[in-house]
Amino acid sequence: MSRIVYVNGDFVPEADAKVSVFDRGFLMADGVYEVTTVVGGRLIDFAGHAARLERSLRALDMTSPMGTEALLAVHRDLVSRNGLEEGLVYLQVTRGVADRDFAYPAKGTAPTLVLFTQSLAVLERESVKRGIKVASVPDLRWARRDIKTVQLLYPSMAKMAAKAQGADDAWMVDEDGHVTEGSSNNAYIVTSAGTIVTRPLNHAILHGITRSAVLRLAAETGLGVEERPFLLAEAKVAAEAFITSASAFVTPVVEIDGTALGDGRPGAVTRRLREIYIEECLAKAV
Ligand SMILES: Cc1ncc(COP(=O)(O)O)c(C=O)c1O
Repeated sequence: MSRIVYVNGDFVPEADAKVSVFDRGFLMADGVYEVTTVVGGRLIDFAGHAARLERSLRALDMTSPMGTEALLAVHRDLVSRNGLEEGLVYLQVTRGVADRDFAYPAKGTAPTLVLFTQSLAVLERESVKRGIKVASVPDLRWARRDIKTVQLLYPSMAKMAAKAQGADDAWMVDEDGHVTEGSSNNAYIVTSAGTIVTRPLNHAILHGITRSAVLRLAAETGLGVEERPFLLAEAKVAAEAFITSASAFVTPVVEIDGTALGDGRPGAVTRRLREIYIEECLAKAV
């Protein structure tokens, strides 16, 4: 079935959803994006994604295409037009259409705004039952990973390198041997004492919306949380590991570079966190 896609104010069949070849998103990866998960036809943590979109736009001196309330209305309209029950809404804003030039076009150039839906199972996933395997790769991305830009070639290469080794995803590692994050998710370990460890927020990682909810819920549940860099070597001997993202929620990691964690099955802390995260996000979905 053909989807309905939102392009610059219009809802059009996907075959008619087009942007200019002069769009700076196409020519320079001069754009930012958000992915909001949909369950039961409702949006999960829309406010968090809208707030991060504003931060990304501000960091790149880009014009916001519309306010948060209007953006929520577009999301809802698109979900409804596509009869989407479970999946995601992808949103992309670029600096707009201009002659190719490294300098930004004049202020007032209209940003390009595109949204589309993808149907996807997020609640019931085989990867959650068995846990995923990750393979380490050097983190060769640019230094402003806190901005959610559409320049995703290196994460894509990292994922392909991991898959070539029989893993499901990559964990990227900085020059000091510390894990930064997954190709499209934040990375965590759980120590033998049950403490959840994840890298602190700075320019080195994307500030995950799921990360922030999961760490708050962990603390509210009385689980220990330490925000500090952890070495790949420490991760390989951790009791548990997991990733978080809008569509993966909390997904267990059971193997790193061929080394099984614990008994090689999803850990209890990870399973509990997934449960409480899903319970809260479904209760608050809009
Ligand atoms: C590099 C990276 N880190 C972390 C995340 C998780 O962020 P969120 O929980 O907001 O989906 C993503 C999501 O796309 C990502 O691309």
